[in-house]
Amino acid sequence: MSYQNEIKKRRTFAIISHPDAGKTTLTEKLLLFGGAIQTAGAVKSNKIKKTATSDFMEIEKQRGISVATSVMTFEYKDLLINILDTPGHKDFAEDTYRTLTAVDSVILVIDCVKGVEEQTERLMEVCRMRKTPVIIFINKLDREGQSPFDLLDELEEKLKIRVRPLTWPINMGSQFKGVYSMYESKLYFFRINKTKVEEDVVEIGLDADNLPHLLGQRDADTLREEVELIEGVYDPFSEEAYDQGDLAPVFFGSAINNFGVKELLDTFCEISPTPQPRLTDLRPIDPLENKLSGFIFKIHANLDPRHRDRIAFFRVCSGKFERGKFYHHVRLNKDLRFSSPFTFMASDKSILDEGFPGDVVGLYDTGNFKIGDTLTEGENFHFSGIPSFSPEIFKELINLDPMKSKQLEKGIQQLTDEGVAQLFTLELGNRKIVGTVGELQFDVIQYRLEHEYGAKCRWVPMNIAKACWLTADDKLKMSEFIRLKGNQIAFDKDQNPVFLAESEWMIRMNRDNNPDIQFHYTSEFKTEAAL
Ligand code: G4P
Repeated sequence: MSYQNEIKKRRTFAIISHPDAGKTTLTEKLLLFGGAIQTAGAVKSNKIKKTATSDFMEIEKQRGISVATSVMTFEYKDLLINILDTPGHKDFAEDTYRTLTAVDSVILVIDCVKGVEEQTERLMEVCRMRKTPVIIFINKLDREGQSPFDLLDELEEKLKIRVRPLTWPINMGSQFKGVYSMYESKLYFFRINKTKVEEDVVEIGLDADNLPHLLGQRDADTLREEVELIEGVYDPFSEEAYDQGDLAPVFFGSAINNFGVKELLDTFCEISPTPQPRLTDLRPIDPLENKLSGFIFKIHANLDPRHRDRIAFFRVCSGKFERGKFYHHVRLNKDLRFSSPFTFMASDKSILDEGFPGDVVGLYDTGNFKIGDTLTEGENFHFSGIPSFSPEIFKELINLDPMKSKQLEKGIQQLTDEGVAQLFTLELGNRKIVGTVGELQFDVIQYRLEHEYGAKCRWVPMNIAKACWLTADDKLKMSEFIRLKGNQIAFDKDQNPVFLAESEWMIRMNRDNNPDIQFHYTSEFKTEAAL
């Protein structure tokens, strides 16, 4: 197959949701439709079970298992589809944000009972920032949920994206009869069905005489009225607006009952983007460029202390990745060769000989990589758009064993390279502040520092709510600000100055009082080469 066709057939996306909305169930059903698995229940292992939330080692173990399902690949309608798994657990939200840098589109799952939840809003913020095309699946229609009109309003309001329903539900909960597909003029009847993938479907226009016969007079009338209302209120679906991340098509269904999943998948195959060009600090990189380039978006440590190696997840952005060839590690300015790169296909890791744009390649790493690292065939540039986000919980790292300070230093550097947490060093006194999005990471770090590096530590909570990266055109003004704010200034791992604020109010006040200093909520603010 030609190189162009290899790229054209690839679709790389993530399913995102607030925990419990049905991400795992939907993933599993997509794999079932794609023939990648034969039975329901096969994907459950990638989910961190609720019962284990207080037991972080158990969670880490489950995360270990989830490496196998980190990227699930299947073929459907001549396309090669890569689903990148994102952890549902809130404390691993950073992992999810980073995975979103490696996809070309997302499917967002919403629970029709709960509507838009906190985690959904935050994930959408990242998608909006990157202009990632989004398809929305409103799930659990077999339960009494909110009115579909209210749900659409809520989506637009809270997620700040225009929506366009492509299917429409006929009742909900115990009265749920199915969905009408406006774009196909088909009626899909709902059946409680957890294992099969067959559908009960009738091709029918809304003005057909036998619609009341199929649905009952009342439901047929309601459906006609509601669809008319939708056609009047919402603009027609535009693929261009979807591609720009401005408009999200909406589907209704019940993942657990395989209902609405096939229409979702079919539409996804039709409209979702092929591997897209990516921005770098030098120029945009087109996937069709024949030289290899790509970046590391995730690093997974091996929890088995006998194997200290880590797994780096590499997204191919252009060219062909070949096993055994030397590639240029831009940050370290050194050439590396990978003799056993692998794919994450299903449960067994198989050696990969070549990978194309859109693919994710697993690389064994002995400490060369950190998140965001770029590999090329010699050119020097870095992919942009892989920022760090402000953590939410901050604690000072205190060394409990002065004899082991070297080990502690190395351990915290490596763990933060992996992206477990972010490390800030206070301007005053060289104190180390670790920032995370969840409490769990502090336990993980403490445990791993002790077991992998032989270093003991304790944590002192800090009264910090947000980290803001700082820039200024005038270097003098910046030094002055850093000097004045002393104990509130730290440096991130790349030596960028960061303002550690007690509250949003504190940030606003400092911003207003210091117009020459710019405050940023993510670490990436350098001018990017425009696409
Ligand atoms: P997540 O990955 O987004 O966290 O959610 P997951 O798929 O695990 O689904 C969360 C719960 O919602 C599961 O129930 C799942 O069975 C249920 N669910 C998923 N889709 C539907 C649906 O269409 N209708 C209904 N009624 N429920 C649905 P659980 O009891 O937490 O787990 P389990 O015991 O069923 O595995």
